[in-house]
Amino acid sequence: MKLRSKAAALLLLALAALLLALLSLRASRAATPAPLARPASALPRRPAPAPARLQGLGALPGAGQGPRRRLPPRSRPRAGRRGAASLKKLVRRPGDSRSFQVVLPHELWIHLAVVACGNRLEETLVMLKSAVLFSHRKMQFHIFTEESLKPEFDKQLRQWPDSYTKKFEHRIYPITFSVGNPQEWKKLFKPCAAQRLFLPVILKDVDSLLYVDTDVLFLRPVDDIWKLLRQFNSTQLAAMAPEHEIPKIGWYSRFARHPFYGSAGVNSGVMLMNLTRIRSTQFKNSMIPTGLAWEDMLYPLYQKYKNAITWGDQDLLNIIFYFNPECLYVFPCQWNYRPDHCMYGSNCREAEQEGVSVLHGNRGVYHDEKQPTFKALYEAIRDFPFQDNLFQSMYYPLQLKFLETVHTLCGRIPQVFLKQVEKTMKRAYEKHVIIRVGPNQMH
Ligand SMILES: *[C@@H]1O[C@H](CO)[C@@H](O)[C@H](O)[C@H]1NC(C)=O
Ligand SMILES: *[C@@H]1O[C@H](CO)[C@@H](O)[C@H](O)[C@H]1NC(C)=O
Repeated sequence: MKLRSKAAALLLLALAALLLALLSLRASRAATPAPLARPASALPRRPAPAPARLQGLGALPGAGQGPRRRLPPRSRPRAGRRGAASLKKLVRRPGDSRSFQVVLPHELWIHLAVVACGNRLEETLVMLKSAVLFSHRKMQFHIFTEESLKPEFDKQLRQWPDSYTKKFEHRIYPITFSVGNPQEWKKLFKPCAAQRLFLPVILKDVDSLLYVDTDVLFLRPVDDIWKLLRQFNSTQLAAMAPEHEIPKIGWYSRFARHPFYGSAGVNSGVMLMNLTRIRSTQFKNSMIPTGLAWEDMLYPLYQKYKNAITWGDQDLLNIIFYFNPECLYVFPCQWNYRPDHCMYGSNCREAEQEGVSVLHGNRGVYHDEKQPTFKALYEAIRDFPFQDNLFQSMYYPLQLKFLETVHTLCGRIPQVFLKQVEKTMKRAYEKHVIIRVGPNQMH
């Protein structure tokens, strides 16, 4: 009874908040003759009219008629003019999400963690930028880094334009290991890589977390991968993609000398975790019959397998989920797309169908010439001027760059890399049109 009335009160509150948000949206629209009365500095730099640019998109592989269908028909008075104006505004300020920002209770935020050591500062900032560029929901960034990099992270993140900084908050943590010998953990695989194993212990107040390597790029809203948490069944508490799609040729299955999950192992570069569940689960293991809490299991497990493991933390995770397969949700390769998925020929079917959702440029491919397709995407996001038009200043240059990569196996399937970027931009556009123009048309 008490619970019920509480739920009802919450519902009422949420409704009231929504109403207020809608009202203030309308009010702000009424108060300013808005779109046309923008400061001159915000006018588009290039005079090409927006609809023409979007029509150009229709000619691309895989591009539907989505946005054009939603365009307010020109013949409708008032809405037509407004529509064009808001469209220009969108095209000009892709990052401005003011129109659909709703105040969320903190527990509904997306939590994104990264561990950045050594020379990974720029790469990490580009990853965070890709998260902010396309996402809608508020995000909390948890950045684990060395003392020497902290000021630079702080400084650079604060320099981003307001329209972006208001979409996230960030916290910077030192590298710490709660159990065992810190020097030993630090040497495991790469400096600081073992940190990810301790996130459930360190982030005690966080319910769920998306961990990504620094060399990851989001090509669609982080909201979408976050939604996979809801697909966990009652025993699942973490999600990862397979290390290989074809176990027979995968190096993990051929070279690993320790037990690993499934037939090809899993890759820990993109890891979605329900930390609450991780903290409350007793994990089966090969050491004692009763099961162990996450924190109590890590060091003994490491001691037991340290002479057999090669790839550090990822190996420990594979061992854990070998003994606890019912705890793992395996998501398709489009959520952790690596050079392995195309450099021997395309072998990620989900990406062929859906496009790459999360790109993972491991083996340093953003910084050398081995996989120009991966590098092109990295540079396009890195060099995108925050306030510019996404189509003009990111998507089109990217297409041009891709033309120069057709001599590589990965470069032969540009649509796989571009499909989600394209879709994401169209979605952002539609949201704007529906929210900014839709209500106007109805009255
Ligand atoms: C994580 O698991 C806990 C315990 O099962 C559950 O209450 C919570 O809603 C889950 N979080 C998400 C985001 O699904
Ligand atoms: C959850 O899914 C996993 C993987 O498919 C499976 O092993 C496990 O038994 C499922 N748990 C329940 C309670 O159905």
